[in-house]
Amino acid sequence: MKLRLELAAAVAALVECCSAWPSDQPFRQIAIIGAGAAGSSAAYFLRNYTTHAGFHVNITLFEKTDRIGGRTLTVNPFNDLAQLFELGASIFVPVNHILNDSVTEFNLSTRAAETDSSSIIGIWDGDRFVFTLDRSQPSWWKGLKVALRYGLTSPWRAEQFTAATIAKFLRIYDAPFFPFPSLTQRAQDLGLDAFTGVTGEQVLKENKIGALYAHDVVQASTRVNYASNIAVLHGLHTLVSLAANGAIGVRGGNWQIFSEMARRSSAFLALNTTVVAIDKGEDAASDRPRYTLQTTSGIAPDDTTTYPVAFDNVIIATPYQFSGMSAGLGVLDSPIEAVPYVELHVTIFTSPSWFSPRFFGLRSSQKPPGLVLTTLASTDTPDSGVAGAGKAGFFSLSNIGKAINPKTLREENVYKVFSPEALTPDFLSRLLGSTVPETFTGEASPITWYHAHVFHSYPKAYPRVKFQDPVVGQGVYYTAGMESFISTMETNALMGKNVARLIVDDMLITRSSSGLERGGDGVAWEDKQRILN
Ligand SMILES: Cc1cc2nc3c(=O)[nH]c(=O)nc-3n(C[C@H](O)[C@H](O)[C@H](O)COP(=O)(O)OP(=O)(O)OC[C@H]3O[C@@H](n4cnc5c(N)ncnc54)[C@H](O)[C@@H]3O)c2cc1C
Ligand SMILES: *[C@@H]1O[C@H](CO)[C@@H](O)[C@H](O)[C@H]1NC(C)=O
Ligand SMILES: *[C@@H]1O[C@H](CO)[C@@H](O)[C@H](O)[C@H]1NC(C)=O
Ligand SMILES: *[C@@H]1O[C@H](CO)[C@@H](O)[C@H](O)[C@H]1NC(C)=O
Ligand SMILES: *[C@@H]1O[C@H](CO)[C@@H](O)[C@H](O)[C@H]1NC(C)=O
Ligand SMILES: *[C@@H]1O[C@H](CO)[C@@H](O)[C@H](O)[C@H]1NC(C)=O
Repeated sequence: MKLRLELAAAVAALVECCSAWPSDQPFRQIAIIGAGAAGSSAAYFLRNYTTHAGFHVNITLFEKTDRIGGRTLTVNPFNDLAQLFELGASIFVPVNHILNDSVTEFNLSTRAAETDSSSIIGIWDGDRFVFTLDRSQPSWWKGLKVALRYGLTSPWRAEQFTAATIAKFLRIYDAPFFPFPSLTQRAQDLGLDAFTGVTGEQVLKENKIGALYAHDVVQASTRVNYASNIAVLHGLHTLVSLAANGAIGVRGGNWQIFSEMARRSSAFLALNTTVVAIDKGEDAASDRPRYTLQTTSGIAPDDTTTYPVAFDNVIIATPYQFSGMSAGLGVLDSPIEAVPYVELHVTIFTSPSWFSPRFFGLRSSQKPPGLVLTTLASTDTPDSGVAGAGKAGFFSLSNIGKAINPKTLREENVYKVFSPEALTPDFLSRLLGSTVPETFTGEASPITWYHAHVFHSYPKAYPRVKFQDPVVGQGVYYTAGMESFISTMETNALMGKNVARLIVDDMLITRSSSGLERGGDGVAWEDKQRILN
């Protein structure tokens, strides 16, 4: 492994100085299936690495929808393009190097987290608020309020421990930990399998973080971030949920990062194009396989056509189990494992009303918090998804901003709800304290605009130490194994970058060995030995 890396680096250095890819060499054809964070990042870094090394590559980015971003997308209240909110991935943190650097490089501007930082945050267990915090208060006051319920050490230890774990993870960006042909191996190398192999509850307990703090605060975070509870979610996802310091998003939508990556990659964009099958063929001129893809288009979903280009590499950049793709004989070395995913309902709606105090059992003079996170009631069984929502029945409710209703020209509240099932008019009527009709919106409804979407949002991330590795066949790569390790925009983008590096290293090794045979690339064997030693 180490040798392979060094060889690639050495060859890259020599090649950079001395030779360009012969212009009579054909383009290497690379297919990327899925234009979310992973696929766009793979395209972007492939272009960067291959330009640097003097290779000709032709990248085709297949995307079944007509937009780039995948689970990173926005919606527009009242269908007004000037007003927008994140429906999918909404925040990232500055230590997310790929995203943070892209923002600078692409000259995008950022905003703070979505909720109004002056609003009150409450943790609701379905019976009562176990904790509330007025975020507009001075920090000493907030610290005191936290300390009164949870003590001083638990919050402090949780923060220290999260920071230490993130620091371990951050080593993955650089050699010798980057790139990584095996995520399982890398998780071990970084000592992170110790956290993925056990539940969040176990990790917190081992690190002497109090049970009450774990139950209320940590679990409220894992529920809003991963729709799961600490007794079932693995320790690394639990800690990632706590690592929200300095959270930001891109003004105008996080998808712009990925759209810009795709644009800068100069990849050929096959939008509205669903890949339904990958088949393996042989290249007569070499012993390398070439892959053909069967596609359908959004316009003619029943019409399968063979894509006219045959590919040297295929990057599958979407959870395979939901892709609707089949793989022909010999494409995959072994089947790609299906993992349980959370089915998450995300609902965004507008209303002039605030949450009803009665819904939360408050007095009518008490204003409910603008950000309601949830935890389990004492009688609930911990699980994930529907089974784990508990008495609260939902994961979070928040006032994410304001929007102008074009009919009244008044400012209204915009709300976002994460729940394991579709919201019902009955639930919304109780939440807003007035009748919501079956149609959700309409003349007498307190809801003026309504949008609901169901995602396979992220894996349930039960404890595990083995992950689907990125190399799944000869020249065939897969990114979504990352999601069972850490599911975020950044980590999926990192996996896209990793796969790009693995492909280019492979090209460098192929070039150097064929160069040696021909004696043509000007790199003497002695030189390589010298560099390697
Ligand atoms: C509600 C929600 C909130 C989240 N919040 C955050 C957050 O705040 N911060 C964060 O970092 N992460 C968050 N995440 C997670 C984050 O969105 C994902 O981890 C990340 O966006 C996944 O990127 P991806 O490229 O791996 O997959 P996707 O974004 O799912 O991209 C896959 C793409 O492949 C396409 N595709 C699928 N099948 C085919 C096919 N057969 N042919 C062609 N194209 C195909 C899809 O249309 C899609 O565009 C959230 C996710 C959800 C759902
Ligand atoms: C590749 O990325 C690096 C780092 O962002 C940048 O400095 C360099 O100019 C890029 N090279 C190409 C060829 O895109
Ligand atoms: C690159 O791929 C696109 C479509 O996938 C194809 O139309 C084009 O001819 C290819 N270009 C080269 C130089 O191979
Ligand atoms: C994709 O399909 C949609 C609807 O079927 C259409 O409006 C859009 O123009 C198409 N986009 C592309 C790039 O083909
Ligand atoms: C994130 O980007 C900002 C703006 O370019 C930069 O100032 C900051 O140092 C970066 N943060 C990290 C942790 O890299
Ligand atoms: C970056 O964006 C700002 C507006 O957000 C604009 O004023 C500025 O000219 C841009 N800079 C570059 C180099 O494009």
